[in-house]
Amino acid sequence: MGQLLYMLTRLSGARRVFELGSGYGYSTAWFAMGVRDNGGGEVFHVVWDEGLSRAARGYLERLGLERVIRFTVSEAVTALRNTDGRFDIIFSDIEKDGYPASLPVIKQHLGSGGLLLADNMFWRGKVLDPRAADTDTEGVRSFTRAVFADKDFTSTIVPLRDGVLLARRN
Ligand SMILES: C[S@@+](CC[C@H](N)C(=O)[O-])C[C@H]1O[C@@H](n2cnc3c(N)ncnc32)[C@H](O)[C@@H]1O
Repeated sequence: MGQLLYMLTRLSGARRVFELGSGYGYSTAWFAMGVRDNGGGEVFHVVWDEGLSRAARGYLERLGLERVIRFTVSEAVTALRNTDGRFDIIFSDIEKDGYPASLPVIKQHLGSGGLLLADNMFWRGKVLDPRAADTDTEGVRSFTRAVFADKDFTSTIVPLRDGVLLARRN
């Protein structure tokens, strides 16, 4: 997963990356290495848990990546809504029932040619299980339908791990 995030950052030449739901900073580290190797920029690490944000800062400092990372403790969609400018990559890994409502905000903040990435598109296979009707599974299903129906995106799912959405903002 990390290598894919690094590769996409390098291939797209991304300088501005926004993560929704960052946790301990594993994905942040790969984006930050990519942005650093693209010549510098900013990667937004956003999580609503203060302790996690602090822990992530410690790990990312040990990797020497803190210069390109902006740490924010907040609900992630709200943080994106309140952040100015367009992004080259927006990566979503928030709670799955929040995926559908995040899409218009993400779209507004992606530049032309920008990439929307989202994790857990298979949701451990539950998206294909007709008995699964919980809000997280429904969230992933509804988000998937919306992105693939949107003519402003060219979309595919990379079947790596739990499925990674790769959608280019046209
Ligand atoms: C799956 S983990 C993150 C993993 C990380 N993206 C990675 O790949 O290394 C998601 C984290 O985001 C937090 N989170 C979930 N929904 C969120 C939201 N709406 N706003 C902020 N943080 C959220 C969770 O509490 C958790 O710490």
